[in-house]
Amino acid sequence: MPRRHLTINGRAETLDVPDHATLLEVLRDRLHLAGAKPACERGECGACTVLLDDRPAYACLALAAACEGRRIVTVEGLGDDHPVPAAFARHDAAQCGYCTPGQVMAATALLAADPAPSDDAIVRAMSGNLCRCGTYPRIKAALRELADAGHGVPPR
Ligand code: FES
Ligand code: FES
Repeated sequence: MPRRHLTINGRAETLDVPDHATLLEVLRDRLHLAGAKPACERGECGACTVLLDDRPAYACLALAAACEGRRIVTVEGLGDDHPVPAAFARHDAAQCGYCTPGQVMAATALLAADPAPSDDAIVRAMSGNLCRCGTYPRIKAALRELADAGHGVPPR
């Protein structure tokens, strides 16, 4: 089985990974990073969103082998004091919470790229992340608060 070198949350990981393994499988099953969630597993819901080189990506669609040499950040890599999960908590932006790690990563990518996005930009950036509990207004309020503060957020 081919040996792969992945950089995940700032740590170098070397592990044997078959060509067909997805990044989501490697994160969850091999590295026990369970923040990225499996849901549709076909690129439609965003529950598995991670950052690849600071941009949001669906880990269910990415082959782990293709992620060698890229910076992979999962929700665990944001740390406890990251402003995005803190804003989600202040605005009670999770109900069941299943979609929340993916939402947090999409929001982090947006605010890292654009510290003060418009409402339209927020809706556009978050459109790839679905929430069956319908917490969209609270998610948007959390992002609006961070955008109005305008100081940006670190991608990790
Ligand atoms: S589980 Fe990856 S997009 Fe839905
Ligand atoms: S909080 Fe339940 S799916 Fe989004």
